[in-house]
Amino acid sequence: MATEQTFIMIKPDGVQRQLVGEIIGRFERRGYSLVGMKMVHASKEHIEKHYEDLAGKPFYPGLCNYMSSGPVVAMIWQGKDVVKQGRALLGATNPLASAPGTIRGDFAIDVGRNICHGSDAVDSAKKEIALWFGAQDGAISYKRAIDQWI
Ligand code: TYD
Repeated sequence: MATEQTFIMIKPDGVQRQLVGEIIGRFERRGYSLVGMKMVHASKEHIEKHYEDLAGKPFYPGLCNYMSSGPVVAMIWQGKDVVKQGRALLGATNPLASAPGTIRGDFAIDVGRNICHGSDAVDSAKKEIALWFGAQDGAISYKRAIDQWI
């Protein structure tokens, strides 16, 4: 059975606030494998494509401006149930509804500056990974020491 993958992105505010290591550490400590990562200053067109399902929402133009205002860290994480559990690690969309202990619940108070993105379903993860990493060779396959110990 193929292992599940998700697309996690540290947004420009997360990079600005120097939370990259903190966020990666939370996924690593939970047990997930980082199998793809790059830093990108995305164009507005690229962000519009990423968020195309939200076109027409009142916050869409501001969201696309903010997301293309500086570099993001685009990542592919792999492991059991990582799509759902990745969302749980991130917390609710609105940080004010995010439980303490989640990334947004610990570091954010504004829905428009909520630090990180995570795919909401296996299908959208596939689409997002293809958009950010290309349809082929998006992820690297390797064994971690921990995979052999347990
Ligand atoms: P959405 O896909 O609904 O949430 P999530 O990121 O949790 O999957 O929305 C995408 C982003 O749009 C969200 O992370 C922050 C921004 N946004 C706003 O700025 N205002 C809003 O009212 C909503 C719902 C989202």
